[in-house]
Parts: sequence; structure tokens; C-alpha cells
Amino acid sequence: MSEKVVAVVGATGAVGQEMIKTLEQRNFPVKELRLFASERSEGKKLRFKGSEIPVEVLKEDVFKKYRIEIALFSAGASTSKVFSPIAASSGTIVIDNSSAFRMDDDVPLVVPEVNPEDVKYHKGIIANPNCSTIQMLVALKPIYDYSRIKRIIVSTYQAVSGAGGMAIQELEDELKTYVNGGRETLLNFKPSKFPYPIALNVIPRIDIILDNLYSKEEMKIVNETRKILHDPDIKVSSTTVRVPVIKGHSEAVWIETETKVTPEKARELLSNAKGVKLMDDPFNDVYPTPLLHGHDTDDVYVGRIREDISTENGLVMWIVADNLRKGAALNAVQIAELLV
Ligand code: A2P
Repeated sequence: MSEKVVAVVGATGAVGQEMIKTLEQRNFPVKELRLFASERSEGKKLRFKGSEIPVEVLKEDVFKKYRIEIALFSAGASTSKVFSPIAASSGTIVIDNSSAFRMDDDVPLVVPEVNPEDVKYHKGIIANPNCSTIQMLVALKPIYDYSRIKRIIVSTYQAVSGAGGMAIQELEDELKTYVNGGRETLLNFKPSKFPYPIALNVIPRIDIILDNLYSKEEMKIVNETRKILHDPDIKVSSTTVRVPVIKGHSEAVWIETETKVTPEKARELLSNAKGVKLMDDPFNDVYPTPLLHGHDTDDVYVGRIREDISTENGLVMWIVADNLRKGAALNAVQIAELLV
């Protein structure tokens, strides 16, 4: 594997830092690593393979100047919209974690366990899907390949780290506020990342509400699932919920398949699937939870598989993954691995 000049854009963020860690842990062939963030981070240094790398301010000319071959972007959609096309026209291949280009026809949207072949049609930008879409599809693809899935209903339980490093701080501050002052004091806490305190709470809105009354996060799951599976007819509906968990997204997923898939068959398919860990013995409390299985883990964990007793060819399951790793940084690095 030839070594590459790699950049992480948004290096100081929750996902950016995980990207640096993942490049190191997977021994990605890095010739040189460049780190970029906003002016706020000027002067900061971050560790990579035992050395301290300075964080530089992102500017238009850096991609050409440093001959960056692969850039992992996680600095939000507005930064991506401006800088990804500049990087691509400078000869850099961008792997973009934001939603900026995910639905563009000439931008592949890739989950390496699901549609690795799609990287081939990139024109300089490859999009990393939404965290909730990634973990759901890694778990569903083996079943889809056995019997097409006609319909998916998903409720998510999403960790605050999905909203960035500041959101983790906000939850921690709120928890301290509650411990020190009780519920009334917590209710007077002025949150900035979420509309209400997230500590001891659940909030049924992630991203903005759209005209159809779904949130943008919910429609990302719908539209991205169709694009990644190349199945515009698959029916998907979702409710996305923020929960007071630091890391690890969980999902309750109902599916309807074209032909009958028994829970036993689903377990067999998933126990042989790449990137999936089956944890399904509910009588002995064997099922994944985000605190135990959504922290610093690479696999997508699946449990509580059972028949959907409300429909004929239905299955229900519980899916947990580390939203910062498989839901973001790891998936992006795996896409980069497909390129080298
Ligand atoms: P900075 O730390 O300098 O603000 P998170 O998702 O955890 O909130 O992190 C967002 C990341 O995106 C951070 O690294 C942040 O840098 C970076 N970022 C935000 N705006 C810009 C920008 N205009 N140019 C470059 N990086 C940006």
C-alpha cells in the first residue's frame, strides 16, 4: 500500500479526534498528516503516532500547497460546502462526514460493508452517511441480501456526542447541576446545544423540523437508506431521539421482508456478517447497551431479535454502535482504505 499525505479537517472536534485515533489504530498508510480547524484552535497540537502535530487554520490553498491526497472532513456542512470542492479541484479526494453532498448524484455515499463498489464513481468527493443510517444498514444488509426488505421503521436513541464536543460538555454540566441543586436548578440551566436540558431527559427532535413534520435527521435515514441500497422503493420511516448518553447510538428497528426470515435465520445471517457482533440471549441479559458496547468499539452490535407479532414477515431488533467510530470516523477511514 502506498503511503498518502492525509488531512483531517475539523481535527479538534469530537469526530476529528476520533479520526486521528482511528488512522493510528488501523495503521493507515500515512506519509504525512496535516490537521486543520478554525482560528479558535490556532496554536493547539494533537498527538499522532507519538508526535505532536500543530493544528493549522483551514485555508483555500492548503490542499495544493501540501499536496494532500486524502482529506477526511468533519467540520460541519457549511465548511464542507465551501472547502470540499476546492480540495477536490486541487486533486485531493475528500471523504466528507457532513450532510453537504450526501444526496448529490455524482457523490457516492458509502458504507464499506454494504456498497463498497460505489467508491469507484467518485469525482473527488465521497460522502460518509449519517451515523444512524450506517449502523442500521450494516446490521440489515445481510438480511436484505437473503430476502429483500420492503419496509423499515426505526426509532433511534442517539448520544449527545453526535452533536459535537460541546454537547458532551453540556450534558456533563447539567448532570453536575442536578446532583448539586436538584430538578428545579436543572430546569433553570440554559442549554445551548439542545432546546431543553438533556440530562435526565429525552428530546424527540434532532436537526430541524421539515415541512412534512419529520426532522431533517429522520429524513436523512429515509433518503440515505434508499441511495446506499440502490432501492428507491424501500419504505422507511423513522423517529430520531436524543438521549442523555455520551457515546453510542441505539436503535429499535422493525423490518418487513419479502419472504419469511425467522429470528433463527436472522441470527445465523448476522453471526457470519462482517462488522457485526451478535449479542442475543435476553434471558441472561445478553444484549448490547451504549455504555458497554458503544464506547471505542468498531462493530455494530445486534440483539433482541424477535418476530414482529403485528405483521406477517416482520422482524424486530436492537442495534447499538459507537456513533463517533463506526457512525463517523471509522467508516470514513474504511472508505479511505478502499481507495488505497
Ligand atoms: P474549532 O475547534 O477550531 O472550532 P464538533 O463537531 O465537535 O463541534 O467539532 C467541529 C470541528 O469543526 C472542530 O474541529 C472545529 O474547529 C471545526 N470547524 C468549525 N468551523 C470551522 C471552519 N470554519 N473552518 C475549519 N474548521 C472548522
